[in-house]
Amino acid sequence: MCGIVAAVADRNIVSVLLEGLRKLEYRGYDSAGLALINASGLQRLRAVGRVAELAAQVEETGAAGNTGIAHTRWATHGVPSERNAHPHISGGLAVVHNGIIENHEALRALLSADGYAFTSDTDTEVIAHLIARELKTEGDFFAAVRASIAQLQGAYAIAVLREADPSRVIVAREGSPLLLGLTDDGNYAASDASALLQVTRRIVYLENGDCAELMRGSYRITRVDGTPVERVETESQLSADAVELGKYRHYMQKEIFEQPVALSNTLEMLGAARSIQPGLFGANTEEVLNNVRQVLIIACGTSYHAGLVARYWLEAIAGIPCNVEVASEYRYRESVPDPQTLVVTLSQSGETADTLAALHHAKSLGMKHTLCICNVPESSLVRENALRFITRAGPEIGVASTKAFTTQLAALYLMTLIFAKLRGRLSEQVEAAELQALRHLPIAVAKVLELEPQIRAWSGHFAMKQNALFLGRGRHYPIALEGALKLKEITYIHAEAYPAGELKHGPLALVDKDMPVIAVAPNDVLLEKLKSNLQEVRARGGELYVFADADSEMLASDGVHVMLLPEHYGQLSALLHVVPLQLLAYHVALVRGTDVDKPRNLAKSVTVE
Ligand code: M6R
Repeated sequence: MCGIVAAVADRNIVSVLLEGLRKLEYRGYDSAGLALINASGLQRLRAVGRVAELAAQVEETGAAGNTGIAHTRWATHGVPSERNAHPHISGGLAVVHNGIIENHEALRALLSADGYAFTSDTDTEVIAHLIARELKTEGDFFAAVRASIAQLQGAYAIAVLREADPSRVIVAREGSPLLLGLTDDGNYAASDASALLQVTRRIVYLENGDCAELMRGSYRITRVDGTPVERVETESQLSADAVELGKYRHYMQKEIFEQPVALSNTLEMLGAARSIQPGLFGANTEEVLNNVRQVLIIACGTSYHAGLVARYWLEAIAGIPCNVEVASEYRYRESVPDPQTLVVTLSQSGETADTLAALHHAKSLGMKHTLCICNVPESSLVRENALRFITRAGPEIGVASTKAFTTQLAALYLMTLIFAKLRGRLSEQVEAAELQALRHLPIAVAKVLELEPQIRAWSGHFAMKQNALFLGRGRHYPIALEGALKLKEITYIHAEAYPAGELKHGPLALVDKDMPVIAVAPNDVLLEKLKSNLQEVRARGGELYVFADADSEMLASDGVHVMLLPEHYGQLSALLHVVPLQLLAYHVALVRGTDVDKPRNLAKSVTVE
């Protein structure tokens, strides 16, 4: 989704802006732009398409400057086009913006009546005109920006520069992430720390309602009303190497194959222990978990699917009631809050706007016990939860989430075991065995990855398909959902997932010889039931692709393709069975020639609602 980089330094900062935008490319965007202040005044360059197009314009024009702002845009208001690309300009100032201004129509009407001419279809342009208007009465640039954002409703992170004030960049955030990067020869801002690792690891995270004035040798932060505030400087732990592609063709492929290491890193703190410590989730986890009587998991997309798997675990193993909600629904639904609920938010990025808003909503309903499982330690979500578990999957760049999912599942399983232990449902012996099963996971996943050549061979069968159906039962139904999501988002094949028992209640009508049906079929108590459902598909001519376990005695036959996973993994088998579905989506995408890491219309970090 949109990205921001801003700089004011004792050097030409154009290469920093461009490199920063390149680091943000993975978030998804459709156009890019920058504005600089240099000897000839305010210079703006914008391009539809990749950052490379913008870089070519920089090269051609020789653009340079010590003060600048840059942006990658993911269209919300107005089509992807040069006129809608940021920065937007008014009266010698330029603005870049992430987020959505909800009252932009009303502001646009007011500003138009005041004579301001709009040249784009974006919500952002109102910010530029508002600041220009405020500057007419409020002489100070920083004060004018604050007075303008006080009139905005919605979510934003902005960076603003002004031709008449070349030594300053003003930034502000409300609901969209923004941080400062400090160096001895200049100060920077960005929507994501990865954009600034090229110049600094000294990071200051802004909080909602913060505004900052950046100058070469100093900066200051205030609230919107001008009250000064201090924010702690931290050292970013992000590794610059971790975002390199290395020997892989795509980030998604790299991230699928990183899963054994990601799991091993995530579970490293278990060491050789025979018992699990609640403190893994934060200092007073035991006290909080002992005081709740139900769990509410809130998330979006793939993270939501991880939550669905966890519900099976929490209820079956720990005996605690669990609900799982899509964040964008929960935040607007009238629900019945119970203060003795543990609200668990799941997110790879920790910046998903709906998940953050749903957490705020739950807190506003009086649910104070919150815990998050997140892959980005420096994210907003982590900062807003007292109890937290950081999955150590490393940066996930591909839009299709893979290693974040399996590491979330590992964390959720740990949480389940802690609940079970506190509720007296885990004997010492079982606890030790469960920990051993977790420790062995990286090896088990690595063995599943060896199936890649067979999966590649299957992928050709899907190349010309328009539809696919995924089936699973029990805790593997969410795995079917996840398989369908992976296939649709990177191959654009329409894919649906159903609990296999639901087939005859409607979706069976879709099944004919052209419909591939992918079944998640581990050797668990529901296997015989699932086999009957698969017979129903086969009897209607549907072509079956079955992922079974080696010990399940499933045989291939006419129209039934079977792939055997090396070992059955009990409660944790969901973590193994998702892997071939990730690989299947990846290889089908290769055959269809889609943009695997940046599928159309999607963004990596969904920071608008
Ligand atoms: O960063 P988050 O886990 O909060 O993101 C949630 C979803 O946007 C994300 O999982 C999305 O569904 C992925 N593209 C799925 O592959």
